[in-house]
Amino acid sequence: MPEQLLRVLTCGSVDDGKSTLIGRLLFECGAVPDDILAGLEEDSRRFGTVPDDLDFALLVDGLAAEREQGVTIDVAYRYFETPLRRFILADAPGHQQYTRNMATGASTAEVAVLLVDATKGVLAQTRRHAAIAALMGVRQFVLAVNKMDLARFAEAPFAEAAAEVRTLLDRLGGHNLTAIPVVARDGDNVTRPSARMAWYHGVSLLEALEAAPIPLPPAAGPARLPIQVVLHPNATFRGYAGTVLGGGLRVGDTVVNAGASTSARVARLASMDGDRDAAAPGDAVTVVLDREIDVSRGDVLATAPAPEPTQQITARVVWMDDTALFRGRAYLLMLGAATSVATVTDIAGRLDLDRMAEEPTRALAGNEIGTVTLSLAQPLVCETYATSRELGGFILIDRLTRATVGAGMIIRIQPNGRAIYWHRLDVDKAARAALKGQRPAVLWFTGLSGAGKSTIANLVERRLQALGLHTMSLDGDNIRHGLNRDLGFTEADRVENIRRIAEVAKLFVDAGLIVLVSFISPYRAERNMARERVAVGEFLEIFVDTPVEECRRRDPKGLYARADAGQLRNFTGVDAPYEAPDAPELRLRTLEAEPERLAEQVVAELRQRGIIT
Ligand code: ADX
Repeated sequence: MPEQLLRVLTCGSVDDGKSTLIGRLLFECGAVPDDILAGLEEDSRRFGTVPDDLDFALLVDGLAAEREQGVTIDVAYRYFETPLRRFILADAPGHQQYTRNMATGASTAEVAVLLVDATKGVLAQTRRHAAIAALMGVRQFVLAVNKMDLARFAEAPFAEAAAEVRTLLDRLGGHNLTAIPVVARDGDNVTRPSARMAWYHGVSLLEALEAAPIPLPPAAGPARLPIQVVLHPNATFRGYAGTVLGGGLRVGDTVVNAGASTSARVARLASMDGDRDAAAPGDAVTVVLDREIDVSRGDVLATAPAPEPTQQITARVVWMDDTALFRGRAYLLMLGAATSVATVTDIAGRLDLDRMAEEPTRALAGNEIGTVTLSLAQPLVCETYATSRELGGFILIDRLTRATVGAGMIIRIQPNGRAIYWHRLDVDKAARAALKGQRPAVLWFTGLSGAGKSTIANLVERRLQALGLHTMSLDGDNIRHGLNRDLGFTEADRVENIRRIAEVAKLFVDAGLIVLVSFISPYRAERNMARERVAVGEFLEIFVDTPVEECRRRDPKGLYARADAGQLRNFTGVDAPYEAPDAPELRLRTLEAEPERLAEQVVAELRQRGIIT
């Protein structure tokens, strides 16, 4: 078996002939078993699109279907070899969620094959794939310009595509490109030269893959062992399992849990093949230490100099969700086995795929690539992506749906957070509340415009006042005259609107007050964020539940009429969404009771929860 291994990522769609190209490559390298080949002959006769020949697209799609049975996988890996090298080909199947699949495949690839259709040329999709692969660390590209037969084997469309991709990669910074004209269906320039394009004197696709330089493993440096699992089967054994990164690790090495000061020595290195003296980068090992130090899953054991955990990172983010990424919104960040809540504090820009340059933006839409600064609730050990793909690459997860919504590559790490420290104050929330003889709380009224939030909140506040309680009201319309005067009603602005109000509500809770907040607050994510700002039990989500037809009928400010007439854009319930609460502490159905009754209901709820007496 050849020693050398090259990891290849294929980018392109089925329409460009990707399956056919891969199938052709596997077939000509003898990577297709006889029984599958026999089946392919049969299938090609029955379903094939290529007269009297094997339809290689059926082969690849068939293999993929076989491999994927019962499991959803993002990337299909295919293996083949020549006398020179072994190859692992990462292929992202299908059109759907393409970016996500691509990003998964690109994170380990050394070469990306960009496939374009000669009759269509370089598409926006091609540019995006090139950008993602480049950002994810791929340095070598092969452009396969397919369907040259349909372009009458002319050099011009090929040269045009090659020049365009070259410019694009130059803008992305120093990448190697080999452009090859191919006919995947017939095999021209796939593994053998083509007699039909005499003007082309370059290599075939396979030759390009055989010649692509394989980067050497990173030079030795300090070792990093991100802990995947803590093994503690009995009282006498405690081992930390993970894959060694950076330099190697030896028995006797001194390590620390990054961020902590106590060190220990490596007593044993256990692996699948028994104990050993040393582990090289890339080896999976279980480390046993000579004394007990505090280590859990997601921590990083390191030899000196150990990295400092950080709470602020700037990263290139490839956004994959239909819902845009906004400043102020919080996501779950997973970096290896470590996780933290990460809040977007800044969006520096988004990549314009035509100019391959960044332009200012307030949000990242699906499939967009941008530069984002994140603030981490939990300090994490990380590196730049250029230093370490493992400690510099992360994914972002939606906290409600648990879907993967973004992939990130760290470009900057701010040491010690932002050099902003938390001052301990002697007079705290409890002291302030005690002086007022009350328990602080947030009553968060959410609902459509005209649902009755402000009306009910007003009545509740009067009742609380009458009971001698100290309160404060934050009302959407009023706050938008002052603190939030700069914000409109786009999704990005509403996210920021609620972020600020959540912080203000928290400050008033710290002042010991009962805070009544009346904002549409249409997004669950931000309402949850507001909830997390205060202690458990201090937050009551009160859903003022009025059907939109009723709000429209009442229309106290005449806004629904204006929205319907097209004079107001992004109006909640008309052309902007409202995400109703799943499990509010209280639901007030305004069709069923008068505001006075509903206000009493709120006061009763506060009593029942022991917030007031
Ligand atoms: S939120 O969605 O960001 O929470 P907020 O509660 O601050 O909204 O403001 C809502 C109020 O602004 C509405 O009651 C209405 O009076 C006014 N308004 C003006 N334009 C819009 C709009 N496009 N959508 C909703 N409310 C609007």
